[in-house]
Amino acid sequence: MSRAADSLDRWMRTSFVAMNTELEELYFSREDRADVEGVGDAIKTRLAEEGRALIRPLAAEGNTNEGFDHAFDVLGNLGLFLAALRRHELTNPARETASPFEEASALGLHIGASLGVAPRFATAHLATHNRAIDGVQKSFTALKDEFVFIDFNTMGILNYKRAADALMRIPPLGISNPSTLLLLNNARDALNDVARTNDILFSRLDKDRFFYSVRPYYKPYRVGRQEYRGANAGDFSGINQIDLLLGLCRANDPGYAQLLIDKMLFMIPEDQRSLRACLIHAPLLDQFLEAASSSSGKAWFADNGRALLEVCEAHGRAAVQHHDQLFESFIVKMSASLDSRHHAQLTASGPPLPVLAKALERLRDLRAAAKRDDIETAHDKLELLRRALRG
Ligand code: HEM
Repeated sequence: MSRAADSLDRWMRTSFVAMNTELEELYFSREDRADVEGVGDAIKTRLAEEGRALIRPLAAEGNTNEGFDHAFDVLGNLGLFLAALRRHELTNPARETASPFEEASALGLHIGASLGVAPRFATAHLATHNRAIDGVQKSFTALKDEFVFIDFNTMGILNYKRAADALMRIPPLGISNPSTLLLLNNARDALNDVARTNDILFSRLDKDRFFYSVRPYYKPYRVGRQEYRGANAGDFSGINQIDLLLGLCRANDPGYAQLLIDKMLFMIPEDQRSLRACLIHAPLLDQFLEAASSSSGKAWFADNGRALLEVCEAHGRAAVQHHDQLFESFIVKMSASLDSRHHAQLTASGPPLPVLAKALERLRDLRAAAKRDDIETAHDKLELLRRALRG
């Protein structure tokens, strides 16, 4: 790491965290916790100036060729800085046509273009690529609830990735291979672990702290002229690999394909490649249904088919839990008590909450293969498989 990059990283892990924490305590003690304008102005100015002074020499250096990890790490630090400025209303895409933080924007754009990722902070920076030093991960604040959020998001993502890795090994083996049973069971267990980490997140995360002191760092902001949506825990390919390989979601469903395109640059390049790789395989559900007429009485069909059903059910359960527990309790219910003047940009991707809720509900129902009259889900296909397994 260059000296300039190292200095910025040290600052991000110390003074930056201290100033954000101090500001959060000031906001949280106010009657209207969402009203942050004109509060802690001296700290805000220091935060912006210190960060800019550290970024200036880095921007002058440019994206020197020190490998992916280094460049991605620098991009994360620039992004966390810009996200904090957005959180403290030192920048707001609604009132600007370009980011007022030119150096951070220029270097962010340079790195984003060279790596093939969005030029902003993404979930991977605080999750799968968040290097802890002496037991402390990178964060915006030192608040306990931010660490609960970061840690259990990371563990959820890692569990999803484990399930996706297992499923990706099935196509070359084929659905009738005895080793496929092992992989399906691995995927089911990993998805049950997603549900377990989601449960812990649900019970440990304080709703007020999350809503007022953690989530505001995940808003959209501009880099250069363009506005980029906020990060969310879904910005990794594993969950979509699972959707597509199982056959619960379809790449030829325009709504779902749009989602894949939209999130592509928010994922690390390795995930982008994995997502593309799984688009060429026939869904497992379709392969089992095709084999049903000739093989439904055979032992491999009974064992592997039942295991596939268990994976689909585990995936559906975790999706229902994300929507009905995490999203409903931490966003929808909390938003209901929020003064309407703060409703703009409540969501990380920008659309009004009811629009986002509908889109997330659709994803939940696709993954849970719910019976719906308005959209096609895998409900009927799973019923056919259940019937074939009963013989
Ligand atoms: C307090 C905890 C959480 C809350 C309140 C929450 C809420 C949300 C919201 C509001 C979105 C939509 C983002 C937007 O466009 O604004 C979203 C997306 C998403 N979240 Fe979470 N989330 C939480 C934790 C998690 C965890 C632990 C995971 C699993 C690793 C996860 C996986 C996803 C995925 C995959 C998406 C993208 C949409 C999809 O494919 O379903 N979330 N979440």
